Amino acid sequence: MDLTSCESWKALQKYFEAKGRNISMKKMFAENPTRAKEFSITLPTPEGDFLVDYSKNLIDQDILKMLLALAEERKVADMREAMFTGQKINFTEDRAVLHTALRNRSNNPIMVDGVNVMDEINGVLAHMKEFSDSVRDGTWLGYTGKPIKDVVNIGIGGSDLGPSMVTSALASFSKPGICTYFVSNIDGTHLKMALNLCDPETTLFIVASKTFTTMETITNAVSAKEWFLEHAKDPVTVAKHFVALSTNKAEVEKFGIDSKNMFAFWDWVGGRYSVWSAIGLSVAISIGMDNFESFLAGGHFMDNHFRSAEYNQNIPVILAMISIWYGNFFQAASHAILPYDQYMNLFPAYFQQGDMESNGKYVTRSGKRVTYHTGPIIWGQPGTNGQHAFYQLIHQGTRLIPCDFLAPVKTHNPIHHGLHQQMLIANFLAQPEALMKGRTLEEVKKDYTDKGLDVEDEKIKKIMVHRVFEGNRPTNSMIFQKLTPFSLGMLIAMYEHKIFVEGIIWDINSFDQWGVELGKKLALTALSDLQDTSKPEATDPSLHDSSTNSLITFVKTHHLN
Ligand code: F6P
Repeated sequence: MDLTSCESWKALQKYFEAKGRNISMKKMFAENPTRAKEFSITLPTPEGDFLVDYSKNLIDQDILKMLLALAEERKVADMREAMFTGQKINFTEDRAVLHTALRNRSNNPIMVDGVNVMDEINGVLAHMKEFSDSVRDGTWLGYTGKPIKDVVNIGIGGSDLGPSMVTSALASFSKPGICTYFVSNIDGTHLKMALNLCDPETTLFIVASKTFTTMETITNAVSAKEWFLEHAKDPVTVAKHFVALSTNKAEVEKFGIDSKNMFAFWDWVGGRYSVWSAIGLSVAISIGMDNFESFLAGGHFMDNHFRSAEYNQNIPVILAMISIWYGNFFQAASHAILPYDQYMNLFPAYFQQGDMESNGKYVTRSGKRVTYHTGPIIWGQPGTNGQHAFYQLIHQGTRLIPCDFLAPVKTHNPIHHGLHQQMLIANFLAQPEALMKGRTLEEVKKDYTDKGLDVEDEKIKKIMVHRVFEGNRPTNSMIFQKLTPFSLGMLIAMYEHKIFVEGIIWDINSFDQWGVELGKKLALTALSDLQDTSKPEATDPSLHDSSTNSLITFVKTHHLN
């Protein structure tokens, strides 16, 4: 059934027009002293409580009930079960979606095409352990007999963003003496910058690509191999310095990497969900396999919660339905993810791919064009930096921007007797409060009179209106104990499932990414134009529009190199 024909959707629309659009959080907090308790979930985890406070949202109990009724009507539970049990819900690619199996620490069998995938998963995990242990303990030796000091992961998209985000988020768990670099961009500068820091005798290259055909990754890997062989000379030494993470054994062998040094995964692991697979090898080398397993356990913990909790206690379901409320009723176009932890620097960028590649689609599962908005623009930065940059627009801009605030109670770096952490958390608390409460003209006036200033003064009168904050801007506040492999795994899985639930509501396939194909194809045509030096313009101008033709001519006549 079309989303807009659902009874609960129609009820939400009606309520939104009649009341929802003018709902006041400040009023609801004033009228209901237990609001924070009613609209929050405390999830006990093995590392202590995880609190998700969603009370500072433009919702009341009626709206929440209707949103959860919509989740019911869209059969979220059925799709959830289909995903966990390995049904081929990624129907445009005829694939199961089983990143949850990669972190299935309970090890109960999961069947795909009659095969228990846990056997293969456990085999690869054992391979990862053996290999990462040997790199970490210095028994994996380079071609001159020296242990590995630098690890360069060459990948892009999910084969880069996941491992780079997790490695940097868990930097305080990393092994001293092993540096990890991530090269993704086809811009030669990226590879060059990493190679400048590496010694070929002690560098391990991890070529990470699900398909092993991605132009950027393969080109970077070929150039890295060339650089390596300029020093090592003997092609046999490549085996000591290059490993591959892929689903494509034939291409890996063609590249010249021994399949013994290949860590496999499967077509049912989407690129943006692959950090849990062999794609996490750089993470395992950096933090050790025990920590990597604890990361998987955090994801599994959230999977169990998502799979078993009632909708009204289910964190991913509630977060997803609140996002639907803003995106489809308030027409919010974006969503900010704001971690108050410097180690989570790359977390928002990771979920730009996670969310936007999953839900940036306008065709429904039944092939029709949607008549409503789907995935929002995801953006964000670590909190306090953002406060001194883009928060102005969140507070006083004309657009509604729902925000997620995330913070650990404890820091890994309690410097200055904990003062930094106190100040960080004070900001984490103050911003959602300010966004919700705002500041009225009366309060601004009082500010002036308290300072003995005259609010009738013409100059002051002019400024006062600029100091008013409308408030009523929605946020979720999420507090966990400390940033650890477990808690990070839990947070990533929470967002993955939130994205999945939204996709179900919108009736789109969150697990393919056809939208990236056209640009890749046209880049190949442009490349052959650039390589054809017989002409100053495009080889076949009829293949391009006049703008692209003139751009090609400009580049060629200015001697691209
Ligand atoms: O082009 C998009 C994409 O396919 C992403 O979905 C994926 O994460 C990335 O490219 C890298 O793909 P691969 O791991 O196959 O190199």
